Amino acid sequence: EKGTYPHYMLKEMDEQPAVVRRITQKYEDACGELTIDATVMNAIKAADRLYIIAAGTSYHASLIGKQYFEKIAGIPVEVHISSEFGYNMPLLSKNPLFIFISQSGETADSRQVLVKIKELGYKALTITNVQGSTLSREAHYTLLLHAGPEIAVASTKAYIAQVTVLAIVAYAVAGTQDIDLKKELGIAANAIQTIIDHKEDFQKVVEDFLATTRNAFFIGRGMDYFVSMEGALKLKEISYIQAEGFAGGELKHGTIALIEDGTPVIALVTQKEVSLNIRGNVKEVVARGAYPCIISMEGMEEAGDTVVIPQVHPLLTPLASVVPTQLISYYAALYRGCDVDKPRNLAKSVTVE
Ligand code: M6R
Repeated sequence: EKGTYPHYMLKEMDEQPAVVRRITQKYEDACGELTIDATVMNAIKAADRLYIIAAGTSYHASLIGKQYFEKIAGIPVEVHISSEFGYNMPLLSKNPLFIFISQSGETADSRQVLVKIKELGYKALTITNVQGSTLSREAHYTLLLHAGPEIAVASTKAYIAQVTVLAIVAYAVAGTQDIDLKKELGIAANAIQTIIDHKEDFQKVVEDFLATTRNAFFIGRGMDYFVSMEGALKLKEISYIQAEGFAGGELKHGTIALIEDGTPVIALVTQKEVSLNIRGNVKEVVARGAYPCIISMEGMEEAGDTVVIPQVHPLLTPLASVVPTQLISYYAALYRGCDVDKPRNLAKSVTVE
């Protein structure tokens, strides 16, 4: 039930801090340590490479998950769009494990891959929000997102849950002491809360940057690039503004030709090692007339940034940086009079190939 909320999407964005905290509790062992089921853990450890299969927002969360497995646990990962993988299978490693990331657990494109890889004799883990869903029942192992039902077509809290669970899985498999993940997830939950508490600020951002525009670009580097793609998908999906997410350094290889006077460019600046590079990319587009909306993280902010979000652990920046992009999409859809929860031409789960 959406209660007093005008839209499910707003309610679901509001729930995000609680979702991160709930997941942390669900994945705690008796001693309060973050861990996962031993069978799943062993299956991951036995693999020489993980193949993550997903679509849409779940694909974008998977790109972050790859960073976690590679950087925290040292396991190589490939991430594939399910509708492509099924018909154009890459050369597989000797001992692959397939991980299906799906909010609904019903995405037909992903199921088709699951059927195929099972025929080939490979094992599958599904990470889903829906217990008993098709992808969960048909996979060998399941981990749950514990995000609670997501009703709005635009996925918000499920993305937050996917990123959180993927961090926990990589951390548990690594058995590392290098990072106090529980504490850092708590800090990330607080950061999300702070952004949500100031959500009305994004109405002004929308009025300034997106009121009449035909198109908008999101740029970022490192993990901000992946969040840029997610921000662009959300904006397209519910406000029908043509939007794309780009790697900051890639613009000058073609896309910069699209920049005109007043073109909104939303830049994410949360990755310390490339913050000067992305600032440089912003200068490049500004020199061509772009109107930059800069979303930076405390510690990397500069005077004139549009929004400064609280600092979180470098690995967890997507949990914080995605939230402004969700709120921008929400208010852009509202401003333009779109049906926020049920955008045209879309269904909550895509059960056809
Ligand atoms: O249920 P799934 O996670 O498998 O769904 C995948 C996509 O269809 C989904 O994430 C879609 O892109 C969302 N509507 C985006 O907000």
